[in-house]
Parts: sequence; structure tokens; C-alpha cells
Amino acid sequence: MKLLVINGPNLNFLGIREKAVYGTENYEYLVDRLMSKAKAEGHELEVYQSNCEGEIIDRIQEAYRTKVGGIIINPGAYTHYSYAIRDALASVDIPKIEVHISNVHRREEFRHISVTAPACTGQIVGLGLTGYELAMDWLTKNAQAADR
Ligand code: DQA
Repeated sequence: MKLLVINGPNLNFLGIREKAVYGTENYEYLVDRLMSKAKAEGHELEVYQSNCEGEIIDRIQEAYRTKVGGIIINPGAYTHYSYAIRDALASVDIPKIEVHISNVHRREEFRHISVTAPACTGQIVGLGLTGYELAMDWLTKNAQAADR
């Protein structure tokens, strides 16, 4: 199955930013862990990161054109206010899981709202980097290979 992970702003700073919240492992560690899992299970995976809203939207649209079968997205702070990313997610008929490393519901009030989650199939929060792997497991077991 063809899968795409999209990480939004500041996620490339894992291991540098707010370690008590996001852990000490760096972004390369996350990418390696996901790529190894995909390889071991025979899935095609791209892990993409951008700090720019428009680039994330372009990548979601590209996923439609390239017949990606499942998207895992951590929109970072865009989660809480980007109607443009929400609309892009809603535009593509691809199963999508929103992942947050931290438990956003236990944090500042502005993080309690996700404007992007309603455009996704499901959401995983607060389980650290494992959340990405759980999202992969769900998509590979439940999402039909894209047939467009
Ligand atoms: C985050 C939570 C967001 O509120 C924050 O802006 C991030 C990371 C998470 O993975 O826990 O950048 O999406």
C-alpha cells in the first residue's frame, strides 16, 4: 500500500524543541522508524515535512494525483486554525489519520480545537511517536488501496 506521512511546522525540530513535551528523539529517528516499519511490512511510504501551509496543501493534492492509499498527518500548530489545510484534506477521498505526539487536550486551551480533524477519518493523540505507527497499522488494515 502507498502511504504518505505529512508533518507540519516545527516537527523537524523534534529532539530540539520542548523535549519534556515531544521527547528527546529527533526527526531523523522518527523518519527511520517509520520507513523501517513500512519496508518490513511491504508498504511504500513517503515521509514529508514542511513549515509552510501552501506546501502542505500542494502535497495533499499531489497525494490524490499519485493515488496514495492513506495519509497520516500531523499539521502541528496549523491543526488549530488552518481552514485551508482542512479544506485540502476534505477535498481528497483518501483515508486520513490525524496524529499528535502530545495530548493536546491536556495542554493550553487553543490546542483543544482541531479544525483539521473533522476532515480526517480518525485522530490519535498523546501516544508519542507510536501514534504514527498505530495510524499506519490502522490504514494498512482498514483502508482500501486507492483505485481511482
Ligand atoms: C502537535 C501539537 C500542536 O499543538 C503543536 O503546535 C505541534 C505539535 C503534537 O504533535 O503534539 O507542533 O501537533
